[in-house]
Amino acid sequence: MSKEEISNYTLCRLVRHIALFVFGSLIVILAARWSHLTGDDNIMSMGAREMVALSLATSYASILFLSITLLIGPARQWMSIKLPLSSYLRRDIGIWAAVFAIVHTVTSMLIELGPVNAFDFFFYRAGASAVMPLRLDFFGIANYLGLIACLIFILLLVLSSDVAIRMLKPSRWKRLQRWIYAGALITVAHGIMYQMMGQRSLSFVLIFAVLTIVTVVGQIWGLFRRRSEQRSNTGTTTDGIVKEK
Ligand code: HEM
Repeated sequence: MSKEEISNYTLCRLVRHIALFVFGSLIVILAARWSHLTGDDNIMSMGAREMVALSLATSYASILFLSITLLIGPARQWMSIKLPLSSYLRRDIGIWAAVFAIVHTVTSMLIELGPVNAFDFFFYRAGASAVMPLRLDFFGIANYLGLIACLIFILLLVLSSDVAIRMLKPSRWKRLQRWIYAGALITVAHGIMYQMMGQRSLSFVLIFAVLTIVTVVGQIWGLFRRRSEQRSNTGTTTDGIVKEK
């Protein structure tokens, strides 16, 4: 690539990042306003409504970007566009999925519901009857799952640069990128648990369900399509035997 092409490309990515930031922020504002109208920002009628709305809204911006990131691969297969090792579009959207997940994590930790604060998300207070200080009830497990998902997204964010690809070599980089599937599955489990605890209104339940189902179906379709393409390329049957051509 010439110097001019590189600077054009950098500019194009910069514009894309600004667009993704603006789009994500709009989703956050809309979701926060909506949660106020539906009363979803009022967890157990205990207050802290602004922080709850922000935490809820950033989580939805994050899962929207996460779904789009995971659907770009199947969409390209659908349109028969060859899949590169790493596309900047997919990486840039993934970066914003991680950024909003981190903002959601921070804002969640800042929610104070009466005497309950971030400490109580993960630990029992001294004097509680539990044998271990770690909080392993339904609420605690939901929070530990959120924490694990957050750590995975931070790892993927750190790996999202060209420098990381060069340092790790493409095959190892690709292997580490696959942690996105674990991050997504853990996020779904965490989200469902919080939906049950927060008794979400139908609109949020539907958005969450549609995003999850569309992404899972897209991934399964993509997997089968890749398998059948590999089989027809190598002439391998389903039981792994290579046919003579
Ligand atoms: C230690 C880390 C985390 C904590 C403590 C946490 C906490 C919370 C809390 C308190 C809620 C309830 C709704 C709210 O008021 O915001 C929630 C919901 C949610 N969280 Fe997290 N979260 C964490 C990490 C994550 C991560 C990394 C993701 C990935 C995107 C995520 C995705 C979601 C989703 C999708 C919901 C919405 C479920 C609903 O409709 O209630 N969380 N989380």
